[in-house]
Amino acid sequence: MEKTHVSRLVRLANLNHHGTLFAGETAQWMVEACFVAAAKKNGRADNVVCINVQGLQFRKPVESGDIVDIESFVAYAGSTSLTVVGRILTPRYPGECILETAVTFVTLGKDGVPAPHGIVVERPEDPVLREYWDKYERKRKKYRAGKQAEEE
Ligand SMILES: CC(C)(COP(=O)(O)OP(=O)(O)OC[C@H]1O[C@@H](n2cnc3c(N)ncnc32)[C@H](O)[C@@H]1OP(=O)(O)O)[C@@H](O)C(=O)NCCC(=O)NCCS
Repeated sequence: MEKTHVSRLVRLANLNHHGTLFAGETAQWMVEACFVAAAKKNGRADNVVCINVQGLQFRKPVESGDIVDIESFVAYAGSTSLTVVGRILTPRYPGECILETAVTFVTLGKDGVPAPHGIVVERPEDPVLREYWDKYERKRKKYRAGKQAEEE
């Protein structure tokens, strides 16, 4: 499982009115880090767009001067979709994931319509990674079933 790592220094400009890292800034960093993982897996960035960001739960406050490390990896691949898990850690809370999300991206054809990416992510042996894979397969199936029901 190839992981992408991005580190950021939290500066005054990144803080909210409580003096802790602003949620909007964190979300932007996270989506960008996940985008990089999806684009690297896809081999190009220009045909990748974000379609869904799942549950951003901010578990701990981060302050100015902290370094945050964002790791991201493609946890599940559908036909036109790639779901990337992003996790934030910081030395302020050693070994603790302070925020986790999953971002789904879609690859588009020249006409701007979803087009198969041809990427296969096999169901992993590792129990933690397999749990992610199963979870995002369920979510994709649920989304597709809902869309089909709407269309009928
Ligand atoms: C991207 C876009 C063209 C997709 O068109 P669409 O008709 O909505 O696409 P679909 O319903 O076929 O879904 C595309 C893929 O995303 C998956 N998907 C969509 N929403 C999902 C969700 N909530 N959870 C899991 N998978 C989801 C679908 O299962 C499908 O993947 P699959 O082919 O692997 O099964 C369209 O939604 C769009 O233009 N959105 C705006 C994108 C954008 O501007 N993003 C922000 C900037 S990057």
